[in-house]
Amino acid sequence: MQMKKIVVLGGSGFVGHSVCEQLTRRYPGVQLVVPTRRLVHAGDMRVLPSIEIVQADVHDAVALTRLARGCDAVVNLVGILHGSAAEFDVAHHKLPQTLTRAMHAAGVSRLVHLSALGAAAYAPSHYLRSKAAGEEAVKAGGVAYTILRPSLIFGAGDRLLNLFARLQAVAPVLPLAASHVHVQPVWVGDVAAAVLAVLADPSWAGRTVEVAGPQVMSLAEVARLAGRLSGHERRQIALPDWAARMQAFFLGLVPGPKLMTLDNLDSLKVPSVPGGRLPTLADLGIKPASMAAVAPSYLAAGQNEARLDGWRAAHRQ
Ligand SMILES: NC(=O)c1ccc[n+]([C@@H]2O[C@H](COP(=O)([O-])OP(=O)(O)OC[C@H]3O[C@@H](n4cnc5c(N)ncnc54)[C@H](OP(=O)(O)O)[C@@H]3O)[C@@H](O)[C@H]2O)c1
Repeated sequence: MQMKKIVVLGGSGFVGHSVCEQLTRRYPGVQLVVPTRRLVHAGDMRVLPSIEIVQADVHDAVALTRLARGCDAVVNLVGILHGSAAEFDVAHHKLPQTLTRAMHAAGVSRLVHLSALGAAAYAPSHYLRSKAAGEEAVKAGGVAYTILRPSLIFGAGDRLLNLFARLQAVAPVLPLAASHVHVQPVWVGDVAAAVLAVLADPSWAGRTVEVAGPQVMSLAEVARLAGRLSGHERRQIALPDWAARMQAFFLGLVPGPKLMTLDNLDSLKVPSVPGGRLPTLADLGIKPASMAAVAPSYLAAGQNEARLDGWRAAHRQ
């Protein structure tokens, strides 16, 4: 299906950069509309042709309807990792409700919505419970939705691997919370490919896909690989639960961007791996890349984190 105009909510973020780049490659001339709370958050995306970055309040139904009018599809990538229960509810639950209403008003039916593996009404964290409420809102919204539930996402500009690499560059040892928890890290390029695959095929409407990489790893193994690839592998100290909670509590009190909160730690009580009952990347024809294959390109010493460099290099004047 040829796409002419797509709204990408949260398009200025980590996953949004990959999604917008792949959409631009796949549908040359497609008009991408990326609303943002602050234009500066998406400033580097102006390099993509036919992108319209607009300052807008996506929680406002009227503004959302205006944005969605005339579009072929909406991709919702808005998400937060830290916040109060009320803030999680607004970003992950209320927004999908408002969005599906706005899509009805604008006459747009196709929605791809990013949730997370482990989302469940009875999950141990506000993050995962609000993600589950968001999935229910999307399903009840009467639109042609596809929900993608990724595991931990890695790639240039990611939070966790870059953080593990930075910490090991400056600290003699790495105190690690939830070191035993299992994740199945997936490359951001494969997550974006999944968004495009379900957008292109209407038969994916009404379905949920679990999006994970090729390998189940413990968090300790992820941290070790990030340390090795960045040239600073340090000895790890697996924190017992009480120490991990104290660490998360105090890190959560630090003003500014958070490294870790108690809610993050609660999210790590459940493994972030596919349950085996829902379709996966293989069903979309995607063979996911491993961390070992991709992460050296941005963690190895001397590599920078510029996220649209591939596009810039290919389209140099
Ligand atoms: N990264 C991962 O490992 C991972 C794993 C599983 C699931 N996911 C999910 O995948 C999606 C994309 O994740 P990401 O890593 O790309 O996140 P990200 O880099 O933090 O980007 C999220 C975007 O959402 C927008 N946003 C944040 N809070 C908002 C709010 N309160 N109101 C309106 N907009 C808001 C921001 O746009 P502006 O600042 O421009 O307004 C931001 O660009 C999210 O739903 C996330 O929960 C991510």
